[in-house]
Amino acid sequence: MTANNEHVLDQKDRPLRDLRISVTDRCNFRCTYCMPAEIFGKDYPFLPKSELLSFEELERLAKLFVHTFGVEKIRLTGGEPLMRKDMPELVGKLSRIPGLRDIAMTTNGVLLPVYAEKLKKAGLKRVTISLDSLDDERFKTINGRGVSVSKVLDGIEAAKQAGLGIKINMVVQKGVNEKDILPMARYFKEKGHILRFIEFMDVGNTNEWNQKSVVTKADIIRILNEGMPIESIDPNYKGEVAKRYRYQDGSGEVGFISSVSDAFCATCNRARLSAKGELFTCLFASSGFDLRKLVRSGQSDQELVEAIGTVWRNRDDQYSLDRAQSKAAPRKKVEMSYIGG
Ligand code: GTP
Ligand code: 5AD
Ligand code: SF4
Ligand code: SF4
Repeated sequence: MTANNEHVLDQKDRPLRDLRISVTDRCNFRCTYCMPAEIFGKDYPFLPKSELLSFEELERLAKLFVHTFGVEKIRLTGGEPLMRKDMPELVGKLSRIPGLRDIAMTTNGVLLPVYAEKLKKAGLKRVTISLDSLDDERFKTINGRGVSVSKVLDGIEAAKQAGLGIKINMVVQKGVNEKDILPMARYFKEKGHILRFIEFMDVGNTNEWNQKSVVTKADIIRILNEGMPIESIDPNYKGEVAKRYRYQDGSGEVGFISSVSDAFCATCNRARLSAKGELFTCLFASSGFDLRKLVRSGQSDQELVEAIGTVWRNRDDQYSLDRAQSKAAPRKKVEMSYIGG
């Protein structure tokens, strides 16, 4: 048995509760703010299969995170996680880990008609589906691959039929899709799905972010309040990323992920595992700790636990908070599509 590290705290007294696992760096979209097609072209050096953690390696690491560190929630991400073959098999392995309360996936949705039912049967509880506009022309431009809105709506419907929990993520960018805020809110209120508005973030090195391109939580609340007033409600749990609001007419909920205007680093309990097994302690980090090297060199569970514990104890990341106070030094950052958001 490995020592219990459930109460390991980082340098800012934050526990480790949430693990985001990226299973692939590939995606079938080329969203302009995440994987611009000019950069992620056909010669882009995506990871070969041999570099990816296998399902068995992922299962072993996930068990250590849950049993030893008290992780309660695992989210599967990519790139696009459903680009990796046999995802229901991985979900099955993870969902059998005792003590894991929640297992979710963040996806662009287009492969859900193929996989939703199998994923649900394997134990997936929820999906979060990204959709930035209901306007076909705008959405086709944003996703960089000319995919129409109906493909994503079909994915949402498939998730619903399968009985998966559903949330919708909309990244809002000034001058790009502000006019979609109200139509999206109306549509998903009617459908009964929680829509989360995400402030455009300066993740990665390629999306040409600047402060002026951000539509803030306050801006969006102002827009919503004109036609469909909302009021704030309590978080579901400490450290929840989205700030929750409900419509004043009593039907429906929205969320705001305001990493730029209202950073939430103080309660950040998230670790991220890249597809090739690096442990990142912040979405904006430059590099991660190579766990795959330890896993593939025959280290014992005890040795892995010690390594992970040391990484977490030394963690002092608070990039968004530092950025808000103009204290974040320029740095090379991991790509969003590589670490899964
Ligand atoms: P729930 O489990 O439903 O609360 O999902 P989530 O909001 O934690 O996950 P999701 O993958 O849907 O992420 C929504 C947005 O929040 C994405 O843009 C993520 O990049 C962003 N996000 C998630 N965690 C963090 C974080 O720790 N820091 C920052 N800055 N952004 C984050
Ligand atoms: N800023 C904010 N959110 C982003 N996402 C991808 N890139 C960015 C960015 N630069 C979102 C995706 C997905 C989630 C994982 O992160 O749309 O919903
Ligand atoms: Fe793919 Fe999601 Fe990035 Fe779009 S935001 S390119 S769907 S990983
Ligand atoms: Fe956590 Fe880093 Fe995001 Fe802050 S910026 S909430 S430390 S991942």
